[in-house]
Amino acid sequence: MLEVKNLSVSINGRKILDDLDLTVRDGEVAALMGPNGSGKSTLSHVIAGRKDYMVESGDILLNGESLLDLEPDVRAAKGLFLAFQYPIEIPGVATLTFLKATVNAQRKRRGQEELSTPDFMKRVKAAANKLKISQEMLKRALNVGFSGGEKKRMDILQMALLEPSFAILDETDSGLDIDALRVVAGGVNALRAPGRGFLVITHYQRLLDYVVPDTVHVMAHGRIMRSGGKELAVELEKSGYRDYNAEPAVA
Ligand SMILES: Nc1ncnc2c1ncn2[C@@H]1O[C@H](COP(=O)(O)OP(=O)(O)O)[C@@H](O)[C@H]1O
Ligand SMILES: [Mg+2]
Repeated sequence: MLEVKNLSVSINGRKILDDLDLTVRDGEVAALMGPNGSGKSTLSHVIAGRKDYMVESGDILLNGESLLDLEPDVRAAKGLFLAFQYPIEIPGVATLTFLKATVNAQRKRRGQEELSTPDFMKRVKAAANKLKISQEMLKRALNVGFSGGEKKRMDILQMALLEPSFAILDETDSGLDIDALRVVAGGVNALRAPGRGFLVITHYQRLLDYVVPDTVHVMAHGRIMRSGGKELAVELEKSGYRDYNAEPAVA
């Protein structure tokens, strides 16, 4: 379970998140929607532990434990996974090498045995097949020259291999054509599990036709303005965000 409590965050003295409350239970898929600039990505970065933000008050708990004093890699080892809105490219490092190093580093931190190369390859092949990721792509440098859709599928592959207890997907749908969207959504749906929560950040309702959320939260001005069930996303698709004017939060 992820609990964000009264979280206020600023960057360079400007308040971006304003007393934000959000709870996502185990097994729940929560959609976070809202106009551009409302603070959605900031929230995901602060949960993951990125440094440029000043947490002024509040707390973030994963399964009852505060994350705020923990380094990003420790948060990841506790089961947190974040797929960035803009995935990073790592020239010179083959995707397979990167994936194996990441998976084994986390297994070590979790006190699990590292996977042998054959075991790892078996898992990667199975997961990659489902996501229509070719062996050739796995040999290329991570994300270098990948299309938008390929990068997003690679993110889902990482998520499948890391088996997080809580996953945040930040606009994983942006830049995807409908076929890639289906593949990505299928990958997410396959990972839905009673012990795993998801925060799916999206600007549009389209992804939510495929990954049907349990709850929908609308963010504006750095706080949650409205929460409801999946019908809220459909309503927003019709009315847009005009009820939540898109000016940035003011300190
Ligand atoms: N590193 C940064 N430095 C200064 N301002 C930032 C930074 N990151 C985000 N912001 C500002 O914070 C606000 C929220 O941005 P963001 O979290 O990216 O919104 P969203 O993901 O909802 O579009 C915006 O006004 C943006 O300009
Ligand atoms: Mg964003």
